[in-house]
Amino acid sequence: MHASMTNNTRKKIVAGNWKMNVLPSQVTEFVTELRNRISGTDVDVVICPPFVCLPAAVAAAQNSGLSTQDSGLIKVGAQNMHWEGTGAFTGEVSPNMLTDLKIEYVIIGHSERRQYFSETDETVNKKIHTALMYGLKPIVCVGETLEQREQGITYEMLRMQTRLALQGLEDEQVRSIILAYEPIWAIGTGKTATPEDANNAIAAIRGVVGEVYGQDVAQQIRIQYGGSVNAGNAKELFGMPDIDGGLVGGASLKADEFEKIVRY
Ligand code: PGA
Repeated sequence: MHASMTNNTRKKIVAGNWKMNVLPSQVTEFVTELRNRISGTDVDVVICPPFVCLPAAVAAAQNSGLSTQDSGLIKVGAQNMHWEGTGAFTGEVSPNMLTDLKIEYVIIGHSERRQYFSETDETVNKKIHTALMYGLKPIVCVGETLEQREQGITYEMLRMQTRLALQGLEDEQVRSIILAYEPIWAIGTGKTATPEDANNAIAAIRGVVGEVYGQDVAQQIRIQYGGSVNAGNAKELFGMPDIDGGLVGGASLKADEFEKIVRY
């Protein structure tokens, strides 16, 4: 049976990855505008600013619950973390620094980290274990390169990355993870996977989770699509049965566009 054919009660989650954009002095105004725009939506909204912007983002987001019923709260995530809780790692940021700031989410294994900062499936796996140990919710990125796609090995790559990322985790831990399928050729390029392609890839990733952790976990885990998501394509993408929202880069830097994506 196709993974998406059983009851889908997964709440959509849209996360904005600000990457190395936005200055600390711009955060309060930006988050305040965002929170007013997304109020009342029935989607989990996460913003992932650079480390130095996190304190201001948390402070501004904390005021974003207009009432306790308002599910339009903005959650804050980091873009990376170290796999140790503390220690002699000059220049790194630890998971307990993030939880000390009341950060809830952390992106792990973004392709830019893998490509430019030598992150491997092994360090990604270590980071996921530590993030969960500290109570953070990891947003774990997997995705194929253009070359791999052209060679016809997309699904093999996705299967391998997913298996290695989740190695050694308990069922309960896997349920709280967010996976993000981000084909590398679609990131920042304006080229988006077709909704069908993205859905099939995500169904395949869900299938791997099912093989290892069973159908129950596979049906619960949320899997986003990322790669040139914008106000014009969000509806079609997020409307697909296996796509549980998006990880949005460039388009998350414009409040009006991000609002349209959240209200797809
Ligand atoms: P993009 O980035 O939306 O600018 O393509 C997505 C991402 O890298 O997470």
